[in-house]
Amino acid sequence: MASIALSLPTMMKLLAFIVVFFVYVESIDQQKPDNGVIINVTKRFSFPDFQGPRTAHDLKLLGSSVVDETGRVRIPDTTQKDVDLKHLAGRAVYAYPIRVFDPVSRTPASFETTFAFQLETLESNSSSGDENGGDGGGSGFTFMFAPDEFTVGRPGPWLGMLNDACDEEYKAVGIEFDTRENVEFGDPNDNHVGINLGSIVSTITINASEFGVNLNDGEIHRVWVEYSGESRFLDIRLGSDRLGYPSKPMFSDRLDISDFLKEYMFVGFSASTGNFAQIHNVFSWNFTSTSQASLRVPSPETCDSKLITGDGDDGGGAHINRLNGFFIFMTVVLLVALALVSLYYNRKHRSGNKSNEAVMLPAVKERPRPPNKPRRFTIAEISSATRCFDELHKVASDERGDTYRGTLLNGCHVAVTKFSTSYLRSHGVYWRRVGKEIKAMSKLRHPNLVAIRGWCFDHQETMVVYDYVPNGTFNEWLYGIGVLPWSRRLRVVRDAAQALSYLHSQKHAHKNVTTSSVFIDVSFRAMLGDFGFVMSGTESNQFEAAVSQPADVFSFGVLVLEVVAGRKRYKSESDLDGSDSDLDRDLLEWAWIMHEMKEKEKVVDGKMCSVLNMDQAVHVMDIGLLCTLQESKGRPSMAEVVEYVSFEKEVPELPASRPMALFPYTSTTGLCSSSYMCPSFK
Ligand SMILES: *[C@@H]1O[C@H](CO)[C@@H](O)[C@H](O)[C@H]1NC(C)=O
Ligand SMILES: *[C@@H]1O[C@H](CO)[C@@H](O)[C@H](O)[C@H]1NC(C)=O
Ligand SMILES: *[C@@H]1O[C@H](CO)[C@@H](O)[C@H](O)[C@H]1NC(C)=O
Ligand SMILES: *[C@@H]1O[C@H](CO)[C@@H](O)[C@H](O)[C@H]1NC(C)=O
Repeated sequence: MASIALSLPTMMKLLAFIVVFFVYVESIDQQKPDNGVIINVTKRFSFPDFQGPRTAHDLKLLGSSVVDETGRVRIPDTTQKDVDLKHLAGRAVYAYPIRVFDPVSRTPASFETTFAFQLETLESNSSSGDENGGDGGGSGFTFMFAPDEFTVGRPGPWLGMLNDACDEEYKAVGIEFDTRENVEFGDPNDNHVGINLGSIVSTITINASEFGVNLNDGEIHRVWVEYSGESRFLDIRLGSDRLGYPSKPMFSDRLDISDFLKEYMFVGFSASTGNFAQIHNVFSWNFTSTSQASLRVPSPETCDSKLITGDGDDGGGAHINRLNGFFIFMTVVLLVALALVSLYYNRKHRSGNKSNEAVMLPAVKERPRPPNKPRRFTIAEISSATRCFDELHKVASDERGDTYRGTLLNGCHVAVTKFSTSYLRSHGVYWRRVGKEIKAMSKLRHPNLVAIRGWCFDHQETMVVYDYVPNGTFNEWLYGIGVLPWSRRLRVVRDAAQALSYLHSQKHAHKNVTTSSVFIDVSFRAMLGDFGFVMSGTESNQFEAAVSQPADVFSFGVLVLEVVAGRKRYKSESDLDGSDSDLDRDLLEWAWIMHEMKEKEKVVDGKMCSVLNMDQAVHVMDIGLLCTLQESKGRPSMAEVVEYVSFEKEVPELPASRPMALFPYTSTTGLCSSSYMCPSFK
């Protein structure tokens, strides 16, 4: 008896292997005819002008762009009265995706395009603007391949093509016609053509003056671009529309663009204005592309159900159907036999070894779960999503832990925060407690909260899995190159207030409100993520909420001040000149001093110059200051803050002098500020 019981699992493994082998051989056999059939995928369209109902269907206008009555595309949109044409960005793209890359052979499509454009310079009132281009930048115009049909990049030197927070997932290829010199982007002069591969800093720049072209002369120019995907050869010609096809190319060389292409992309134009307004007109556009694809036949597994229900009168399909049916039948018979045998032995030996189960397992397929329901992840899943926590995938790191970007097996992009064990331990926190909090918060859904996809507690590690927000964190935008206009800053403040108000109404707290826990999505909506979760001690949840919510309000107040001032709360040592008083070392203290002296305008970020609404900025600064008051002295709730920031309700009068009690303490993390702002709980 004993010898049978021992050899049985081995026997079953062997049988299972034979079945799997047959099925495998069968599937290889079926795939054979699919390989080697190459077809050409061609797309061609032509806009002699942009008039007529077809244009409305085939052209997608994004941001500030319009088709005027004479049938030209204009970026920015000039039809609206009384709109400042500075600092705008817009796009016009062909409305349907085009196959520009074959992922199997990793070959780019070949394409040809010609278009006629004109740059119309407006009389500039440059007395107030900075002449040297500087941060505002004039503008320019780009022919581009974009990964989607709903993103508009930043205005100014970004040409509406990209922004400084787009990551490498945002594939883009552009040819820019730039009339402003942005030294920080490596521009050679204010009259150049550039080739931009996944970046706004051109890989190749061409001095248009050398070809007798002045982009800014008000003439209509025509461009011819030809690319051969096979030989990776690019040819660009540019000249006056009157003179016809230029004999001399501006660029004619090998250039591999495959790393910056997705299989399907959107093709079109993007343009922007900066401190100087300029109108970009496109008159006509032809485009043709050809890519090669190997004919794909859906895999036999996905076809089975359809073949069995269909009549199967088509010869090939019926053949596959019969063959497949036979092997499925064989497999089922064998598995049932195995199941019966193992059941029999299990019954006989109640105490029998467990390896029988292990053999049965592969036959049971796990049911797919609803994709958006938060769930537990195994460490293996997270490891594979982040390529074993690869340094290259690390997007952020602080004393609380590290955050990695990753891709789940189902293709979803996620961000994984791995808490540092020493950090948790030093705060006397146990994973059970953090885990409970994570699970509870994963149930919350709000448009301004980054959704929690799941968690992982394994091998002593505590991790949270979030949706990945593609446009980076707000601090990159606020402190990055370029100036964020006031309207966008205000939107972030409002979105963050909404999110916090919702969290608090659900009896939770964020516990880590900073500019780096605000994320920006593709439509520039702000979303709060990177939750703090951790609270020291073993206090009850009610106690925690009572402490953490006012602390959130305080941190929100500091965030608001940072947004208004365009700087971090603490100046780094190197920024201090050591002289006089360094009054502005701590932004919070400085803002209060300026409030006392009735000079709040001095705190407002001067870099915003023309893109600023000073009254609103001072108003919002008042709200920020209000949030940093002591709780007993009038710190508002987030629900009230939402009303203030939407200008629905008067902001209460601030005390005339600053509350001295705020300043002996220093802290930056939500954790410390929560204990320090609530001294009575200490
Ligand atoms: C596909 O295009 C290439 C060149 O563009 C051509 O040589 C080839 O014959 C075409 N194949 C088919 C099936 O049309
Ligand atoms: C330039 O400024 C003058 C007066 O300051 C104004 O009348 C004119 O409309 C401005 N022009 C433009 C193009 O903004
Ligand atoms: C661009 O070309 C023009 C005309 O040949 C020349 O005068 C100018 O110096 C060039 N600029 C740069 C940055 O090379
Ligand atoms: C665009 O294509 C049409 C027809 O294919 C052709 O008549 C026209 O000349 C082309 N225009 C340009 C600018 O190449």
